[in-house]
Formats: sequence, C-alpha cells, structure tokens
Amino acid sequence: MKVIAVGSQKGGVGKTTTAFYVAAHAARRLGGQTRVALIDRDESRNLTQLARLLKSLPSGVELVEGTEVPPDDGQYGMVVVDTPPGVTAIRSLAEADLVLVPVQPEPQGIANLADFLRNIDNQGRTVSPGMRLLALLPTRVSRKSNVHRHHIGLVHRIAEMRRPQLTVLPPVRELEAIKRYELDVPDYLTVVEEILNHVYSQQELLGAVV
Ligand SMILES: Nc1ncnc2c1ncn2[C@@H]1O[C@H](COP(=O)(O)OP(=O)(O)O)[C@@H](O)[C@H]1O
Ligand SMILES: [Mg+2]
Repeated sequence: MKVIAVGSQKGGVGKTTTAFYVAAHAARRLGGQTRVALIDRDESRNLTQLARLLKSLPSGVELVEGTEVPPDDGQYGMVVVDTPPGVTAIRSLAEADLVLVPVQPEPQGIANLADFLRNIDNQGRTVSPGMRLLALLPTRVSRKSNVHRHHIGLVHRIAEMRRPQLTVLPPVRELEAIKRYELDVPDYLTVVEEILNHVYSQQELLGAVV
C-alpha cells in the first residue's frame, strides 16, 4: 500500500482536485482488485463536500472516514491524502510515503515553494523518515499566458537545483471540465500514468499487484 499526500502551503492551487483525479485515475488504471482510499485532512472538508456533490465516487475509489491512514491489510493498494494549506500543511503529510506538490505558475504560487520543499525535507528527516517528494505538478495552467510560461520555467529550475533532481510532471491546464469534475480529462490521465510509473514497478502495474 502506497500513501500519497497532495500538499502545498497555498490554498486554491488544486490540491483537492488533484487528490480526486489521482485517486480516480489510479483506481481505473490499477483495475478492480486494487481499491484506492481517499482521506480528507483539510478542516474545510472540500473533498468530503465534493464526494457528496458527486453522489458516487468513481469505481474503486472510497472516501475513508476520519483522518487516519487505514491499516495496510490488503484492502487498499493506494491511499491518497488531501491536506490543508497554511501552518498545518506540513504536519498533515505525516505517514505519507510520497508527497505530490501542485504549483500554480504565478508569482505568489512559487514565492514560498523552495521553503515548502525544505520543510518537507526536514519533516522527512525528523518525523517521517520514510517520506520522499514525488514530484511537482504545475496546475491551472493557461497555455497562452506568458506569466505562466515564465513561472513554469522557474518551477523547473527549482526542481533541477535539488539533489536528486525533482520531477516536474506535465502541466494540468485550467479547464472547465475540471471545475465540473468530469472524468475525461486527458491532462490528469497523463499525470497519473507518470505517477504510477514512479510508484510501482512494471511488473506490479501489469499484474496490478500492489
Ligand atoms: N485545472 C483546473 N482547471 C479549472 N479549475 C480548477 C483546476 N484545478 C482546480 N480548479 C478549481 O479551483 C478551485 C480550487 O481548487 P482546489 O482543488 O479546491 O484547490 P486547493 O485544494 O489547493 O485549495 C476549485 O474550485 C477547483 O474546481
Ligand atoms: Mg483543498
């Protein structure tokens, strides 16, 4: 069982959206036997509200009650944790094996990014020894925006400065379909495919034994 937390010190960057799509597409990709648990660790309960709004979550995805990671007893192949912004952001990453960081490519979006990544490193060294950064994910990107292009460049530079280098996943565009949580969004399909390749071996993916 792999625990993936979606974290950022900033609100509105697509953490909850990313947690939802990662869980949905991972469940689809991993097949029926492997279920994916979603955990809502944000007091504002956006993910829980979303689950209520959708009435039923995509097949294979389950919103687990409470904020605890379920026991690793074979019930779930993956756990995706949605976390709050702000001062409790780092603490909410506890128990994660991997942390995925959505980044909006705007000045405020990357202002504290390097600090946030350092705080994750510290958390990994002290409280959560098994934790590592999975990747940065540019979100809500407008292809026509020069500001976005410039800041995606900066995101890549921040990622390249780290040792080992940090992956920057293909960007997710600002899309109406995502606002409506429609499942057919190719941007997140690509992202999840890359994440799964990072997280599981080819053999595990072929057999969906995770
Ligand atoms: N790629 C996207 N395209 C369009 N709207 C998006 C996208 N990502 C997020 N949103 C919208 O932006 C708002 C904030 O996203 P959310 O995932 O709740 O951010 P966070 O959890 O980081 O606060 C939501 O209304 C969501 O529907
Ligand atoms: Mg949220």
